[in-house]
Amino acid sequence: MNRRHFLKTTAVAGAGWLLLPSGARAGKNAPGNKLNVALIGVWGRGLAHYDSLKDENVVALCDVNEERFPEALKKFPNAKTYVDWRKCLEQKDLDAVVCCTTDHTHAFIANWSLNRDLHCYCEKPLAITVEEARTVRATWMKKKGKLATQVGMQRHSNPNFNRTRELIRGGAVGNLEAAYAWGNRQVRPSGCEYSHPNEYDDKPGIVFFKDKPGVPAGYLPEAGEPPKNLKYDLWLGPSQFQPYNPGYFEKGPGANCLSWNMFWEFGAGQIGDMGSHTMDLLWNCVDAALPTSAEAKGDPFNPAITPIKCASHFEHPANDWRGPIRIGWYQGRVMPKSPVSWLDLTKIDHGAMFKGSKGVLVCDFQKRLLIPVGDAADMTYYKPPTTETVLPPLGHFQKQWIEACKNPGLKTACDFEYSGNMVEQLLLGLVAYRAGKKLQYDPVAGKVTNCPEANQYLGKKYRDGWTLNG
Ligand SMILES: NC(=O)c1ccc[n+]([C@@H]2O[C@H](COP(=O)([O-])OP(=O)(O)OC[C@H]3O[C@@H](n4cnc5c(N)ncnc54)[C@H](O)[C@@H]3O)[C@@H](O)[C@H]2O)c1
Repeated sequence: MNRRHFLKTTAVAGAGWLLLPSGARAGKNAPGNKLNVALIGVWGRGLAHYDSLKDENVVALCDVNEERFPEALKKFPNAKTYVDWRKCLEQKDLDAVVCCTTDHTHAFIANWSLNRDLHCYCEKPLAITVEEARTVRATWMKKKGKLATQVGMQRHSNPNFNRTRELIRGGAVGNLEAAYAWGNRQVRPSGCEYSHPNEYDDKPGIVFFKDKPGVPAGYLPEAGEPPKNLKYDLWLGPSQFQPYNPGYFEKGPGANCLSWNMFWEFGAGQIGDMGSHTMDLLWNCVDAALPTSAEAKGDPFNPAITPIKCASHFEHPANDWRGPIRIGWYQGRVMPKSPVSWLDLTKIDHGAMFKGSKGVLVCDFQKRLLIPVGDAADMTYYKPPTTETVLPPLGHFQKQWIEACKNPGLKTACDFEYSGNMVEQLLLGLVAYRAGKKLQYDPVAGKVTNCPEANQYLGKKYRDGWTLNG
């Protein structure tokens, strides 16, 4: 019986432990019942996983910044260390990978892990291009049932996710017609000033940021040599070369992603950042897969920086419980219109709104507000959940994945199908933004059908030597 098979059978048939010779311990802390995990990206967001991994065997630590190892090794002293995740994934005793690196490496690490039959928890966003999202999802669909995946959208375990879903599925807004999510973050590159600080302004065509003299609104200029401990070339990884600038590393643990994720080469801006969390709030309630159209409007195009203000809209076909719907994503203080004059949606930093034939539901990650509309909305049509049908709490989000690694077939809330579809839709919005017109999309082929030139924006060019699906 090989190690992985042993792990699976002991986890599924927990009672089997009772038959083991005396002295063997039962339960998840039994010596053979721990996952051998590689943590890739050990600082910043990586720190948020230390606690949930403390009962597993972290056998490999990988970071492009060697300065991060001493602290991580204090927590996981038996781990081998690596600076190149490709070498790390060659370690023979791995069961699972937790990926907390930059967004431009997520789809690579996720794909490579699944191709090596390793479970994978990947921080959000799963991908930064439509092609990356489709590639990871396709790899996952071949491994589903055997491996466990989860994208780091941990807000999904907030009870409000279940409560909003119950309201929408129970018909509290009548027949669902449209749903919108928004996020108000405006993060600009190091050195760029806010042209409209704290100001809500959705006029089209406005230039939203102004440069300090000598700081172009593009990639950051060369600024000295990378520190010795940082393997800058590995940090760039598959992305096109950009000279080193400390501005890409300035925000500190847990917020450093806000130093680099607005650049096309390194991220997808707010789509990959709060967009992943906030669209999840909506996505969880609508049971959508992929859209058939996309259109978007935002800041004037900048070849280095993804739009800060942008609104995108998608058409989704009907499913077995609702008709076709329109989904919207608004970012950078562009907002959907409030359904009533007395509700200022701009006061909700990150939220979602569901519009139906009989009412509107507005929510953020914690709270929800139902507004029945018109005389017909007497709520008799609404079926509240009963104690039998109320959705159970999800529990600890990271641990849900660990349990699923040990019990193949257990479903995780944000697996690579659910999250892959969600991020593909959002990233298609960026394609429509660049194409500048409404796109018709063939979700099976993954191609734009009415604007051939838009297809070039579905993927991106990688540096020589880097393979997405290796
Ligand atoms: N789920 C959440 O709520 C949440 C919160 C913050 C960040 N994040 C995500 O976590 C990821 C990391 O964000 P961060 O702010 O910690 O960024 P960061 O720049 O601090 O990177 C995290 C760590 O990964 C290392 N790293 C970077 N590229 C690497 C590579 N190719 N190989 C190995 N190590 C590498 C860095 O040196 C650093 O130690 C981002 O994708 C971000 O979207 C998620």
